[in-house]
Amino acid sequence: MSSLEPVDRFLDQNGARFVEELKEFLRIASVSADPARRPEIGRAAEFVSAQLTQAGLTARVVETDGHPIVYGEWLQAAGAPTVLVYGHYDVQPPDPLDQWTSPPFEPTVRDGLLYARGACDDKGQLFTHIKSAEAWLKTVGRLPVNVKFVIEGEEEVGSRNLDRFLAGNRDLLKCDVAVISDTSQYAPGIPAITYGLRGILACEVTLHGPNRDLHSGVFGGSVANPCNGLARLIARLHDDQHRIQVPGFYDEVIPLTPKERKAFAALPFDEADYLKDLGATAAWGETGFTTTERRWARPTCDVNGLFGGYSGPGPKTIVPAQATAKITCRLVPNQDPEKLMPAVERFLTANCPPGLRMEFKAFHGCTALVFDSESRFMHAARRAVSSAFGAEPVMIREGGSIPVVATFRDLLGVDTLLLGWGQNSDNLHSPNERFTLADFHRGTRASAHLWSELANRT
Ligand code: BES
Ligand code: MN
Ligand code: MN
Repeated sequence: MSSLEPVDRFLDQNGARFVEELKEFLRIASVSADPARRPEIGRAAEFVSAQLTQAGLTARVVETDGHPIVYGEWLQAAGAPTVLVYGHYDVQPPDPLDQWTSPPFEPTVRDGLLYARGACDDKGQLFTHIKSAEAWLKTVGRLPVNVKFVIEGEEEVGSRNLDRFLAGNRDLLKCDVAVISDTSQYAPGIPAITYGLRGILACEVTLHGPNRDLHSGVFGGSVANPCNGLARLIARLHDDQHRIQVPGFYDEVIPLTPKERKAFAALPFDEADYLKDLGATAAWGETGFTTTERRWARPTCDVNGLFGGYSGPGPKTIVPAQATAKITCRLVPNQDPEKLMPAVERFLTANCPPGLRMEFKAFHGCTALVFDSESRFMHAARRAVSSAFGAEPVMIREGGSIPVVATFRDLLGVDTLLLGWGQNSDNLHSPNERFTLADFHRGTRASAHLWSELANRT
């Protein structure tokens, strides 16, 4: 334990520099969804590689058919476990731009919060692991464990090329456990370890009507309207209890155990505050489940975007030619996106209103996961988090998805420690994304402690 002293001191003395370096990272607008940002994607990958190198690891940028992957390693802890750290340097689009208080790619500190797109998801969080490795290597001269870093640039668009890289490099990536900081704490002052994530299935449905937009007075009422039809179709996805109507949708769902329901219910939660913060007027969701259960452990089917017809100012009297809905289902263990994608398509086809032609596009999918929260590695993570945050972490599941976690389990046979340093109020994917600087520093310290706790066999 004594080698932690110089490491902790190094972190204290260099914290301000880490923040400046993180700001430099955040100035790179590495938006993976935007083809015009391809140069920034390349610069972000180079930046990560250079950071790993200066920390004392060997690192390289690996080109793929899409965005590059950064691989780094330090493997001189003979006999100690090997830890695989994953993160993503790509970020969500910053839109709507007019809602940012300071520009998304001009990182700004206000009241101890660092504002920028990617501050928390995931540049700020992945940076903690690079800085903790640097602290060990520049003080003690070694790490207590072997580390491998895989930092990708396509997480926010479905990680298409990552799986191929992972499958082609199984030996290179061999490890005992994976670590990802890309989730959140439970609440301010209540750090958490996430032992479960939901999966996802993403698709798009378009209904085609007449071959062009028509005058709704001349033709309206005589041909099917795709916007009206799409509303009917979407309404059929749920019953009045908010249960999803796709046949077989719940067949494989593993029900929550009474023990887990009790553990969820024991977490501090003020529903009124939760709703007030979100501007919601009432609790809402599948009958028979609590808000926490609905968020973490029940599947959903959400329309993410709905468009068609005229959406400019004032009225316009048309029967539109087409209408589209973007849809995602969040999945829970043991639902299979490969099986459910065709089930969703079949349901939509069967319910497509007459007079309209349906077109279906399947995007990405990944399975949900729940890990053993009592494993040796989980206990090591608990000790590291509680020493750095000054509070015992609670064990939680989360509703978001990180596709690579399932791949690590299936391909490499390892569990992932999901150690989130962010807060639910950090505005991920929203305007004014931010990261509490104190959480950044505590996260870096927890990461530094994690390396020695993972080496500790007891
Ligand atoms: N970091 C998030 C996932 C996340 C956020 C998990 C908060 C738990 C709590 C990640 O970058 C993300 O946005 N994932 C996408 C996955 C999709 C693009 C396949 C998601 O969950 O929508
Ligand atoms: Mn993320
Ligand atoms: Mn994200």
